[in-house]
Amino acid sequence: MTSLTIRRPDDWHLHLRDGDMLKAVLPYTSRHFARAIIMPNLVPPVVTSSDASAYRDRILAALPQDHVFEPLMTLYLTEGTSPDDVEEGARSGLIKAVKLYPAGATTNSASGVRNFDNAMPVLERMAKIGLPLCVHGEVTSPHVDIFDREAAFIEAVLDPIRRRLPELKITMEHVTTSDGIDYIKNSTANLAGTITTHHLIINRNAILAGGIRPHYYCLPVAKRESHRLALRAAATSGDTRFFLGTDSAPHVDPLKESACGCAGCFTSINTLSCLAHVFEEDDALDRLEAFVSLNGPLWYGMLPNEERITLTKKKEPVGYPDRIETQAGPVTVFDPMFRSHWDVG
Ligand code: DOR
Ligand code: ZN
Repeated sequence: MTSLTIRRPDDWHLHLRDGDMLKAVLPYTSRHFARAIIMPNLVPPVVTSSDASAYRDRILAALPQDHVFEPLMTLYLTEGTSPDDVEEGARSGLIKAVKLYPAGATTNSASGVRNFDNAMPVLERMAKIGLPLCVHGEVTSPHVDIFDREAAFIEAVLDPIRRRLPELKITMEHVTTSDGIDYIKNSTANLAGTITTHHLIINRNAILAGGIRPHYYCLPVAKRESHRLALRAAATSGDTRFFLGTDSAPHVDPLKESACGCAGCFTSINTLSCLAHVFEEDDALDRLEAFVSLNGPLWYGMLPNEERITLTKKKEPVGYPDRIETQAGPVTVFDPMFRSHWDVG
């Protein structure tokens, strides 16, 4: 196959940041993607519907005039989140999901949830009105090995929440382990998972073997090869419970290339090209559309996009920059080593 036309895709997990960084990175998403679930971990975080409304306005103001793009806003769950504010935001159509960060799990998660009992009134309201919860599925206890944090989260947090509130729709974000994949596959309802582009491509050796490569570091951190293969099998299976959430998370290079580097891979610039390569390798190009354009809207109760985009396979690898320049500083693209022949029209 040398050409593939699919419905315009959506990104179900995206960090756009704010200010200069927002202006620089948004066009890379909006030129290919019609919609994206926007992560609320700004400083300070997007905690109220009015914060989300103001952030949505800033995103739309940063959008190139000839791009059509809908930011799907989320709220950052804190122990003080008001169930009424969440419900009003959802009923007005502004809020599409609420994001749960266990406190300390990742970038700007200090205001996240410490005691999950305190979040129950909001979760109960969300279950009642059918608003999905997006979870960063890692425990934060220093006693749990970083490579085990996803499996530990499923047992200690996710499964108990699902037992208490089986009607709550939960998106397990950026699944990185076979434990996560199996947990979703074995569920009967109200659970789905996003998978990133980079977790389909690298395992933990890419970060650590032969020298530390900070641009491969993200959270949840990439795991061993058997887990990557489980993610590939799920993403390319066509199973409607798995869909793309790039987790594209730009940080300027000095913050990544540092003694304590930030977590996050910037992938929005070449995600579709990389994914076409991955799906072709697994003989699953016919299921790429399900993963990037169909399964996500189905889960979020939206229609798939009507417009189409065409991917074309070129003789030579498609060129994209190793890094982009922004007013905030340079941002290295994931994967600086990866060459795909798929061009996105
Ligand atoms: O690698 C990550 N970067 N994982 C996250 O959960 C947050 C994100 C960010 O905001 O930088
Ligand atoms: Zn994220």
